[in-house]
Amino acid sequence: MTPIEEVIINKKTNINPIWIMRQAGRYLPEFREIRKKNNNFIKLCLNHNLSSEITLQPLKRFDLDAAIIFSDILMIPYGLNQKVEFKKNFGPILGELNLNEISKLDEIDFVKKIYPVYKAIKLVNNNNLTNNKSTIGFVGAPWTLLVYMINKQSPKFKLKDNFFKDDFLINRLLIILEKFLKVHIKNQVENGAEIIQIFDSWAGLLTYKDIPNYIYIPTLNLVEFTKSLNVPVICFPRGIKDYKEYCEIVKPDVICIDYDVDPKQIRKEIKIPIQGGMDPKILLTDKENLEKEARKYLDIFKDHPYIFNLGHGVLPETDPNMMEHLVKIVKDY
Ligand code: CP3
Repeated sequence: MTPIEEVIINKKTNINPIWIMRQAGRYLPEFREIRKKNNNFIKLCLNHNLSSEITLQPLKRFDLDAAIIFSDILMIPYGLNQKVEFKKNFGPILGELNLNEISKLDEIDFVKKIYPVYKAIKLVNNNNLTNNKSTIGFVGAPWTLLVYMINKQSPKFKLKDNFFKDDFLINRLLIILEKFLKVHIKNQVENGAEIIQIFDSWAGLLTYKDIPNYIYIPTLNLVEFTKSLNVPVICFPRGIKDYKEYCEIVKPDVICIDYDVDPKQIRKEIKIPIQGGMDPKILLTDKENLEKEARKYLDIFKDHPYIFNLGHGVLPETDPNMMEHLVKIVKDY
């Protein structure tokens, strides 16, 4: 069993495995080198040789306990034939949404379109660098994907005023997304993903009354599906107010917390294994402060099954030496 599985399955508290969201990315010069020559981000994700190489880059440098596959949650709208582009210093831009076309799409065509993602997982999982480490696959939660597909760009803290206008469209899309997300999870698992993380980056945008319909019900369906494949599932409902209620209803195997969560409070409220929490901005300060903050999390979760991670993705301006130092702090603890 890998260290992360020991924590998730055997609820071990005497080890502190670590991996980092966006551990393969722009803070690494070797990633920027490849990115410079590959202008089209989606095409890069669909190049299985390069995407597997990028996935392994952080493992060559740091003693991390997992590889997270280099891909993107927006490969799903792309697979559903919605145009997806990434504009520099702006983020994703999505094209028109054609519900008729999406409704007609079959599973085989969808899988054909994003097949290199599965090939990359296989390559990563078969590489010696991932021995005794977990290979993590992921999906965006239905709600967060809905946000991008309808909003067509990052909502930057606010949804378009008429976001909920077309009730029919939203409810049809939720059903379609659930179907294809299950296909995507299943294919990742069949090709070597040993854990699935569900990213709900925009969970914090909903008011309380809308959470059951858009978050609890569709996410619970994916969690149950993943568990039925005998694969543990980590949920990251960033910005949600009530993590305790979320865990009781959605029942993930691990809950990943964001940096606005009070770790002491969550430690008291939640019984299942916990992941993450530390603010990625701490990596932009100095080694002494990094040590203090990382130890704060390690101390609080000393007697609780805990996987070290950040409270959101590592920032592009992070110095790789700080990352190296963080891994060392956690491993030496
Ligand atoms: O964590 C990893 O290392 C695995 C790869 C991964 C990426 N995106 C690569 C990526 C994962 C797990 C994601 C998830 C993802 N993608 C989320 C959920 C997590 C989160 O950050 O909240 C979301 C919302 C997206 C959508 C997305 N992709 C946005 C908004 C952007 C642009 C914003 C940004 O950070 O530049 C991306 C692009 C993206 N996805 C990059 C990477 C490494 C940067 C690409 C580049 O320009 O080089």
